[in-house]
Parts: sequence; C-alpha cells; structure tokens
Amino acid sequence: MPFAHITGWGMYVPEPVLTNDDIAKLIDTNDEWIRDHTGIRERHIARENEFPSTLAVEASLKALEMANLAPTELDLIICSTSSPEFIFPATACIIQDQIGATKAGAFDLLAACSGFIFATNMAAQAIRSGSIKNALVIGSETLSRFVDWKDRNTCILFGDGAGAFVLQASDKPGGVLSAVMHSDGSGADSLTLLGGGSRHPATELTLHEGKHFVQMDGKAVFRFATRVMGRAVIEALEAIGMTTNDVQWIIPHQANFRIIETAAKYLKMPLDKFVINVEHYGNTSTASIPIATVEAAQKGQLKAGDKVVFVGFGAGLTWGAMVVEWTGPMPTKKHVRPEQYRLFARLRRFVRRAIRYIESFYSRKEV
Ligand code: UT7
Repeated sequence: MPFAHITGWGMYVPEPVLTNDDIAKLIDTNDEWIRDHTGIRERHIARENEFPSTLAVEASLKALEMANLAPTELDLIICSTSSPEFIFPATACIIQDQIGATKAGAFDLLAACSGFIFATNMAAQAIRSGSIKNALVIGSETLSRFVDWKDRNTCILFGDGAGAFVLQASDKPGGVLSAVMHSDGSGADSLTLLGGGSRHPATELTLHEGKHFVQMDGKAVFRFATRVMGRAVIEALEAIGMTTNDVQWIIPHQANFRIIETAAKYLKMPLDKFVINVEHYGNTSTASIPIATVEAAQKGQLKAGDKVVFVGFGAGLTWGAMVVEWTGPMPTKKHVRPEQYRLFARLRRFVRRAIRYIESFYSRKEV
C-alpha cells in the first residue's frame, strides 16, 4: 500500500493589513482587549478583486514548485473553504482551470475550520488506496466578505488567506500516519452563516436580518474547542501507538491564543512545541493550519522525520486531528516551474471557450 507524503507547501495572504487599532476606529473595542482575549494583533484582508481562488492559485503554485510537480500531473484537487466563490461551480474547479491541472478531478469540501484536516485526510486516503498518485489540497478563505463590521464579537477575529499542500504517493514509509474526524451537528447553531443557501435564499428580508453575516456564540465555541482539541490529538496519536512524547510539533487551528494555551495544558506539553501565528493573521479558518505549517517550514522548524500533529475545530460542529511524519520534497532531477503553466492554462481556457461557442452556433443551425 503506498504512503501519502506531503511533498510541497505554499501560502498566500493578501497584502492589505488591518490592525486592531484600525478596527477600533470602526467599533467600540481596543487593541488591548483584542490582544488579551484572542492574541490577535492584525489580520490580512482581501482586496476587492481577490477571491478564494485568487489566493488559492498563488498558494498552490508555490506548493507545486516546492514539490517539483507540474499541475498537469495532478489527479485530484480538493479546496476546503467556508467562503466559496459561488454556491456552484466549486472554487476547486476555478483553481483547476487557472493552474492548468488538465487531468485533475476537483471539488470543494466544507467542514469549516476543520476542513483542511478533513480534506488532507481524504486526499491521503485516495493515495493510500492506490487510486491516485498526486493530489493538491487547499484551504482558502475570504471570510472578511461575510463579517458584519459592526459586530465586535466576530469582526475582530477573522482574516483572509490560503495555504496548500501537495500530497504524493511513495513506497517509502511516512507522510500521513493517522487521522480522526468528528462532527456534532447538535451544535450547528453555535457558528453559522445562514443566508444565501436553499433554506434562506437571498431576499430583501434576509439581507435586512443580516443572515449573510457570520453569527457566533463565542463562549459556546470556546468551551467546545477547549474540550475537544486535546482529546483529538490523543486519539490520533493512540491510533498509531504514539504518545505526546513522540511529537515534535503541534500545529493547531489558529482561532484564539487562549484556546491553544488550554489545549497545551490539557496535553501537558510546553507551548513552545506549538506553532502559533494567530497574532499576525487572525483566524483564517481552514487556511490557518497550512499557513502556520508553511511559516514553520520556512523558519526551518520542521525537520524530515519530525512527527507533527495538526488539530482543528470549527462550525458544524466539526473537529479532527492528523499525525504526519514530515518528509519534504521528493528527490527529483527535473525542475518544474508551475507558474509557466498559468499562461498555457489561459490559452487553453480561451480555445475551449471558442470551441464551445462554435459548437453551440452549429448545433443551433442543425435545430
Ligand atoms: O474557528 C472557530 C471560530 N470561533 C472561535 O474560535 C471563537 C471562540 N470564542 C472566542 O474566541 C471568545 O469567546 C471571544 C474572543 C469571541 C470573546 O472573548 P470572551 O473572553 O469570551 O469575551 P466575552 O464574550 O465573555 O465578553 C467579555 C466582555 C463583555 O462585556 P461585559 O458583559 O463583561 O461588560 C463583552 O461585551 O467583553 C465585551 N466584549 C468586548 N469588549 C471590547 C466583547 N467583545 C468585545 C470587543 N471589544 N471586541
């Protein structure tokens, strides 16, 4: 049975930065309160012309370059997002087209902030089953579009960004070692975005009621998160006969510094074994784990052979953890420049659309 290794990683955050002081100009809050209660100082906010696919494409091309893998060699693309570009088509299909991943099947996965762990597990299982060789998993969010900038309970928390992993099959042991995924829909009302779906399609009334904004019972989510995070880590480790002593790094969902602190206490692990960057990005939802991973890798914190645990929680409610043996890029002689495939992808899109137009013209004539 092949192993599923993480061989490439990339991240992208929009340039504009919104500090706590900037938010304090909009609502009744202040930098000290936000830092004390969340650990956040600033977050990045997408420009008007940036969407989840825009951020995802940048992160994906970096991950592919790191893995030395051409987009045309991808078999599968999963985009985890809670702020998809549209209800359909899937954001993953837009990414697939823009990076020129001509043979990849692409779909979105929605498990909120736990989504990146769920998506990586799905891709890893597809590789482990032998049915595919190369997968791209992306977490991408522009939740700033769904935040009520008058609601101080939520608008201080979220930031925009994307992170991506390339997963590849190899006979060498390592890569994704275990994963646990959990859900409890009885807590669905704790964190919601109700408008625009088929239960509350967009109407003047839904707009008036603010149903197109994120709504959150912060305390309920906080209690839930602190209860499940540590347990999920232990469960994923026990599945492969490991303990926290075997772990070099925990990379948690970056929602709130205090939640991470509580998980560290539960696990009796020092905080310096946790990768924490919530200070500079806020909560980027499903993108937070890959963004934190990329930063840790760039700082040289992750070494080949390290056992790393990803752990997340979010709306649904959902939560999960994954144990990975860190590998790094596979040895290869070629040097692929995935950026060049963008041009090819643009040309391909133009030609395919032209063919579709000509076909429709002739089929009208036949009718
Ligand atoms: O990916 C999952 C996403 N969600 C989460 O992870 C959220 C989890 N929850 C949290 O992180 C925290 O519950 C919050 C950061 C949202 C809130 O922190 P808290 O320590 O639970 O604050 P609180 O809601 O208990 O509010 C304490 C006080 C209240 O005032 P009173 O009633 O004690 O006078 C609030 O009105 O702080 C007030 N408050 C604020 N003050 C300044 C609430 N929000 C703010 C604010 N600025 N932004």
